[in-house]
Amino acid sequence: MCVDRAVRNACTRWGGVVLVIAALWCAPAGAQKNPVTNPVADNPAAIKEGLSLFRANCSPCHGINARGGGRGPDLTSGRWNHGSADADLFLTITQGVTGTEMPAANFEDSEIWTIIAYLRSLAPPKSTAPVGDRAVGEAIFQGKGCPSCHMVKGRGGLLGPDLSRVGAGRSAAYITDSIRFPDKDLSTGMIDPNSHFGPARVWDTVTVITATGEKIVGVARNEDTFSIQLMDRRQNLHLLSKKDLQKVNHERKSMMPAYAEDMLNATDLENLVAYLQNLRGD
Ligand code: HEC
Ligand code: HEC
Repeated sequence: MCVDRAVRNACTRWGGVVLVIAALWCAPAGAQKNPVTNPVADNPAAIKEGLSLFRANCSPCHGINARGGGRGPDLTSGRWNHGSADADLFLTITQGVTGTEMPAANFEDSEIWTIIAYLRSLAPPKSTAPVGDRAVGEAIFQGKGCPSCHMVKGRGGLLGPDLSRVGAGRSAAYITDSIRFPDKDLSTGMIDPNSHFGPARVWDTVTVITATGEKIVGVARNEDTFSIQLMDRRQNLHLLSKKDLQKVNHERKSMMPAYAEDMLNATDLENLVAYLQNLRGD
C-alpha cells in the first residue's frame, strides 16, 4: 500500500524501475499485519471462537464472562484505559501491559481478532457508572485509616499494596470484596510480568519464630529459598535468614482488618469503591 502521496507521485512520474523500488520500499507498510479495524467484527463464528479462547486463556484473571476477576479488570464496562479502538485492543492483548499482571498473548493475529470480536459482543453491565461519589469516598479513605497501610500516588504506608492504579486493574466487585472480606481473595503481585500465570506473590500474613523463640508477624515483602524480608504491623522491615528461623508460616490470611457493616456502612462503602475505581494512575 503506497500511502505516501509523494512516493505515489514518484511512482507514476518515473515509471518502471522506480515503481519496482518504491513497491519494495513500501512492502513493509503494505504487508502491515495489523489492520486498523477488525476483519471479523460481528461474525458469529468468530465470536464463538473468541469466547472459547477467552475462557481458556483470559478468564483466570478477567473472570469467566469478562466481568472482572481477582487479578484483572472488567472488560465489559466500555471504559478502556489503554485505548478503545480495535487497533488499541489488538496492541494491548498482543503486547500486554508492562509493569502489571497483564501478559503478552502469543496467538495468531486471526485469533486475536476473534477475541476482540467476542469482547465487543458483550453487553455492558446494567450500571456502567460507579454509583458512589468519589470525592466523598476519598474523604472516607483518609478518615478510615486506609493510608496507614496503602500508598496512593506516592503517599501512604507500605504494609498493603499500592492502590494508585487499583481501578485500572480490578473490578468494582473485587474491590468491594477486598474491603468487606480481605481473606476471601488475597492480593497477588506479579514477580515477572512477562510470565503467563505467575509466579505471583500473595500478600498473606506470615508468622516466623526466630532461633531465640521471638515471634514476628508481618507481610513478606520479598522471599526466596534462603531469606525472607518481613514487614511487621508497625512497618519495620526484618531481614531474616531462613536457617536462623525455627518456623516460617504462611497463614493465607490478610493483615487487613475486615471492614464490616458496623465499621463502614453500605453508603460509605459505595463512595469508597467509586473513589478506588477512579484511581487509574493518572
Ligand atoms: C495474569 C492475569 C491476566 C491474564 C491472563 C490476562 N489479563 Fe488482561 N489484564 C490483566 C490486568 C491486571 C490488566 C490491567 C492492566 C492495567 O493495570 O492497566 C489487564 C488489562 C487488559 C486489557 C486492557 C483493558 C483497558 O482498560 O484498556 C485488555 C483488553 C485485556 N486485559 C485483555 C486480555 C485478554 C484478551 C487476555 C487473554 C488473551 C488477557 N487479558 C489475559 C490481567 C490479565
Ligand atoms: C493494617 C493495614 C491495612 C489497612 C488499615 C487497610 N488495608 Fe487494605 N490491604 C492490606 C493488605 C496487607 C492487603 C493485601 C492482602 C489482601 O488482599 O487483603 C490489602 C489489600 C487491599 C485491597 C486489594 C488490592 C488489590 O489490588 O488486590 C484493597 C482494594 C484495599 N486493601 C483497600 C483498603 C481500604 C479501602 C482500606 C480502608 C478502609 C484499607 N484497605 C485498609 C492492609 C491494610
